[in-house]
Amino acid sequence: MEKLLDVLSACLGQAFEDCGYDRSYGKVTVSNRPDLCEFQCNGALAAAKAYHKAPVKIAEEVVGQLGGAEAGSEKENIWQETAVAAPGFINLKLDADFLSGWLGSMAEDEKLGCQTEEKPQTIVIDYGGPNVAKPLHIGHLRSAIIGESIKRICRFAGNRVIGDVHLGDWGLQMGLIMQAVKEEQPSLPYFDPDFTGEYPEEAPFTIGELEEIYPAASARAKEDEEFSRRAHDTTYRFQNGDRGLRALWKQIIRVSVTDLKENYRRLNVDFDVWYGESDAQPFIPPMIERMKEEGYARESQGALVVDVAEETDTKEVPPCILVKSDGATLYATTDLATIVQRVEEFDPDAIIYLTDKRQNMHFTQVFRASRKTGLVDDHVKLVHIGFGTMNGKDGQPFKTRSGGVMRLEYLIREIEDAVYRRIMENRTMEEDEAKKTAAVVGLAALKYGDLSNQASKDYVFDIERFASFEGNTGPYILYTIVRIKSILAKYRANFGEEAEKQASLTAPILPAAGEAERRLQLCLAQFGETIDAAYQELAPHKICQYIYELANAFNQFYHGTKILAEESEERRESYIRLITLAKRVLETGIDLLGFSAPDRM
Ligand code: ARG
Repeated sequence: MEKLLDVLSACLGQAFEDCGYDRSYGKVTVSNRPDLCEFQCNGALAAAKAYHKAPVKIAEEVVGQLGGAEAGSEKENIWQETAVAAPGFINLKLDADFLSGWLGSMAEDEKLGCQTEEKPQTIVIDYGGPNVAKPLHIGHLRSAIIGESIKRICRFAGNRVIGDVHLGDWGLQMGLIMQAVKEEQPSLPYFDPDFTGEYPEEAPFTIGELEEIYPAASARAKEDEEFSRRAHDTTYRFQNGDRGLRALWKQIIRVSVTDLKENYRRLNVDFDVWYGESDAQPFIPPMIERMKEEGYARESQGALVVDVAEETDTKEVPPCILVKSDGATLYATTDLATIVQRVEEFDPDAIIYLTDKRQNMHFTQVFRASRKTGLVDDHVKLVHIGFGTMNGKDGQPFKTRSGGVMRLEYLIREIEDAVYRRIMENRTMEEDEAKKTAAVVGLAALKYGDLSNQASKDYVFDIERFASFEGNTGPYILYTIVRIKSILAKYRANFGEEAEKQASLTAPILPAAGEAERRLQLCLAQFGETIDAAYQELAPHKICQYIYELANAFNQFYHGTKILAEESEERRESYIRLITLAKRVLETGIDLLGFSAPDRM
């Protein structure tokens, strides 16, 4: 199905052309003065300059052309009102039959009028980015939430999308853990150079212990130079293939990944591949060799670097360091090698990264270095979405009450509790169901609270506001869906299952009878456009904005309309079809955001 604005623009474009102007002036947009009209075209103002004519004159000619269409032609069918407003705006109002007909086609369409890429792209999305053995904290939360939504949006548009968690499983952090384990339990076979047997199947720690080991070891290394040196040494030996350390490393990964998967499952976040930084390591030596041979890498104070500064830079972009003077490779080296790996395995058209915006410079360097050294073809898009910080009400990065960084599990529990209290306040739901519902609604509160902000902005995390059933919140959207579900259930109870099926699947949608219904219809018709914009701009907040408007439009319609008590059968069935469409649109919207609705709340 085409986009509504494209169809409307084509109609206006034709009218411009018929009057002797270029059809590109026919661009139609949603009105920014909804009190005056629904859509508008400002093309006459631009055409006035090009054709040296008064804009009002041009607008009048075009409107005359629209009005004067042959009966039965498409043009006539689109508009109910066309008017010129000084100094040359064309104000437009859709024909009611055209609008309801449009919704009918939308309802028939599996994708509800949304576009599918003509040339599907292969897109790798690098998000989540947790570090093994470090607890998943809210610093990683936004990456998971926004990345999951962007993955779903790109996939819905028809692309082949690969979500990669890009685990932080390499480097000093692993050495610190292993060194700490060694000093705690020196007799483990992993540390015995003469051991040739099978290593134990059981890990020598639980996830709880593992999560305590890292922070302790990291703190100790800052004070105890000797320990730090030993940890570096262990890191070096593990990276260079020490058999025992490798086996222990695998245990750390296994225990940690099991826990991570459970965390992501609760967040409704799902990765296609679980590669880690370690998987990119084999690609490093040949990559560096080539960069040296081809003259891209140069030595600087014992380190190996690629210059990435550009003349137009307004702030300094330092060289990208591949190898430090002590021979160690860095975060950037791994990211470059990961690009090599991804090109080899997936041949992507785009790679999208989601991290905190504090990593902006890192990705500028990595992207420039990979283009300059030819790791990717020119057509491959490299995109970094740097998001803002989640702050507490005090405007500082969010902390627990005791001041520490909040762990994801606690955060989720807090928000679930807030929702649970609300459910229990005013409803009679069994405790068990209330708990389950609170988990579903809590996730929506959390995700919507995040996604409704433009990603690059910092935002204030406010559990009470996010969990509210009113206002621009996830629970409000879910509440609206639940309301529609309950109307449909009542309809089923009153008129029978068959009748409900028939009405919701096939009844014709009639032209709107009142203002609120009209607004609901207009809002629904703009779904395709919205999803396309969210996809083009990789901006889930556009979907939030839209479903909030839609939920408002639906609720206004609902409060002013007797849906079930409507006497005309035809109209009643049309209502059922219309609200079924609204439900599908809302459900598709929240699915693209990464959450779902309960049956009751
Ligand atoms: N593990 C990293 C961190 O915690 C994020 C990884 C992001 N992805 C990447 N390809 N660098 O900051």
